[in-house]
Amino acid sequence: MNDKQAILSQAINDNIVTSELDAIGVMDFDGLESTVKNLQTSFSQNFHHTFAVKANALLSVLKKLESCGMGAEVASPGELKLALAAGFKVDKIIFDSPAKTISDLRTCLKHDISLNIDNMQELARLDQLIKEYPDTRSLIGFRVNPQIGSGQISSTSTATKTSKFGFPLGDDDNLQLLKTLYRERPWLTTIHTHTGSQGCPLELMVKGIKIITDIADEINTCSDQQQIVRIDIGGGLPVNFSSDEVKPTFAEYAALIKEHVPVLFTDKYQVKTEFGRAVAAKNGFIVTRVEYTKQAGDRHIAITHAGAQIITRTAFLPHYWPIRVTAYSSDGRQKTEDPVNTDVAGPCCFAADLIAKDITLPRLDQNDYVIAHDTGAYYFSNHFDYNSLPRVGVYAAEKNQGKLVLTCIRRAGSLEDVARDMSQ
Ligand SMILES: Cc1ncc(COP(=O)(O)O)c(C=O)c1O
Repeated sequence: MNDKQAILSQAINDNIVTSELDAIGVMDFDGLESTVKNLQTSFSQNFHHTFAVKANALLSVLKKLESCGMGAEVASPGELKLALAAGFKVDKIIFDSPAKTISDLRTCLKHDISLNIDNMQELARLDQLIKEYPDTRSLIGFRVNPQIGSGQISSTSTATKTSKFGFPLGDDDNLQLLKTLYRERPWLTTIHTHTGSQGCPLELMVKGIKIITDIADEINTCSDQQQIVRIDIGGGLPVNFSSDEVKPTFAEYAALIKEHVPVLFTDKYQVKTEFGRAVAAKNGFIVTRVEYTKQAGDRHIAITHAGAQIITRTAFLPHYWPIRVTAYSSDGRQKTEDPVNTDVAGPCCFAADLIAKDITLPRLDQNDYVIAHDTGAYYFSNHFDYNSLPRVGVYAAEKNQGKLVLTCIRRAGSLEDVARDMSQ
């Protein structure tokens, strides 16, 4: 990762962070590249890695990841359009939405895009549509919910007994039913599971992977040819938000999978992964200007422009999504002096709009800066926030012939731009 202090100084020198611009997101493209390299070398050659587009759907970021050799996992028609616009080839895209319309399914089959089936009603639609596209090269299979329980964060746990995702394996006679469904449909050639994201122990994720691999092995034993050719193990590697250290690492996760499901490290299966947060989070951060400071009770309060609108999870669920913040002076120097009990607040008009609460931080003054670390996934990049983000530009930081260069990858629009967008 490029040095954040250097990026901030450059942003100040380049007049990117000014009194007009309240906050920017920065994606470190060099960091992204080395994270992807690390991912690729941690697993064996039969692993094909896709990026969960929802984690950071900025076109330039997707283009960068495509150029590094990643595929794309998309969970909505909009994400599919972005992935195609970013240049991902159809055979490197997996469509995973739990709410696919008939038209979404038709698009996949027609354009040879692989997909994971969420439920029996979707299967019934595919039973019909497959007759229209008998020669499709889409690889299709079930998303299985192994129902093995929750991690620490219920909202990101997808393998609970009542999860909305996938085919609930433990209900009734579903395991037997699943095998029958595959036996009757030779065009079902993949199987998928995603146990959950942040907060899920690696052991739980590996347990889910073993369950679907055993099912695949069994289905294959009963078929003349190997029917299931691809196993999709989802994403979900947790990210350490409490320091710069990357832990757990891709290599640790790979070693655990290899220990418990060694067949995945042979050539028997093509294995897909769908990491989002572990690829992007630590390669992005937010810089925000301190608009005002004040004292209330024993608390020093810094009012910034990065709150619930771009650091949404932290503002609403601070216990589950704590982030680190660091104080910088208005000339871009990291502050170390005069530590005080501080709340770092956002600009939104509700009391919980805090990105850090009751922490010890060098005293912040008006026009200082705050860096919110590890926010490259599911924060400033969230496409569904766009209309409420008129003034947050996003910049790519990368070295060109040894010189750090910042390039705008999402323009900070004006309030007029937003009004126009919303009236269309
Ligand atoms: C099916 C699927 N794949 C991949 C991901 C990406 O998860 P993460 O960003 O934690 O790696 C998710 C996240 O919700 C998901 O639902």
